[in-house]
Amino acid sequence: MKPYIYITRKLPFEAIAAFREKYDVKMWEHDDIPVPKEILLAEAKKADALLTMVSDKVDEQVLNLAANLKIVANMAVGYDNIDLTAAAKKGVAITNTPDVLTDTTADLTFALLMAVSRRVVEAADFIKNGQWKSWSPFLLAGQDIHHKTLGIVGMGKIGEAVARRASGFEMNLLYHNRTRKPEIEQILGAVYCSFEDLLKKADFIVCLAPLTDETRNMFTRKVFQKMKRSAIFINASRGHVVDEQALYDALVAGEIAGAGLDVFQKEPIDAGHPLLGLSNVVALPHIGSASVETRTAMMNLAIANIEAVLDGKEPLTLVNKD
Ligand code: GLV
Repeated sequence: MKPYIYITRKLPFEAIAAFREKYDVKMWEHDDIPVPKEILLAEAKKADALLTMVSDKVDEQVLNLAANLKIVANMAVGYDNIDLTAAAKKGVAITNTPDVLTDTTADLTFALLMAVSRRVVEAADFIKNGQWKSWSPFLLAGQDIHHKTLGIVGMGKIGEAVARRASGFEMNLLYHNRTRKPEIEQILGAVYCSFEDLLKKADFIVCLAPLTDETRNMFTRKVFQKMKRSAIFINASRGHVVDEQALYDALVAGEIAGAGLDVFQKEPIDAGHPLLGLSNVVALPHIGSASVETRTAMMNLAIANIEAVLDGKEPLTLVNKD
């Protein structure tokens, strides 16, 4: 009998043709709705491998049911949606998709930064709504990006890629991270500083830190109040690093100037969410790595991880190494 693989979201059928020949593959057939929990539970019970998305909660309940499960291949670099402790107890390998998405996610992060500071979305809406009556000197004037100070919170690979982009804009670079990155300091002139110092000095604060117990709710009202009133906050990591009510209050009170958000505590965010009503907020539906090339590479990496584990080999990008 061929090993059974369950994929929790619709992937292009032709793209997984070879995979389908080798294994008994079933997919959740919808692109726009996540797999319901009861189906995930039933599939986890039978599957040898799961190919999951960030929107799937692979918790203790799912993992405890798994009788044959050898691997959960998450099609994302982040894996906060998976209970690593429960996976370890069951001896299930967890893999992610790092590296292949680094530059694509950095591009989007920088696009958000540029969109907020130069009011690109507001300006595009303005012209489409027929509001452009005349040219005027300060019409939709935003803030410069070049030669400003960028503060990166979470200097992993994506943080480094954002720093490289920023150096092309001749920005000054500050960063805060669990560990120092001497190469980045040397090559790009990035300066390591405390979180407090970064908040005080940066014109743009970009969060790219993974969601952990330490980073959950890291951005509170007090934190926003320490930033410059002209500061722009960008979050491209996970929604739960931010207290969203605090961010809303800080924006409304003018304690910071704007925000660019690709991630939210609840995804999809409700269309009526107060943050979405603010003109100085640019919000995107968690599309950091969403280019066709990169999503294809992520899919292929997840598949390669499954093949490796089912062939009794070491997966390429194992997360739970111990
Ligand atoms: C997306 O958020 C990812 O972790 O890849």
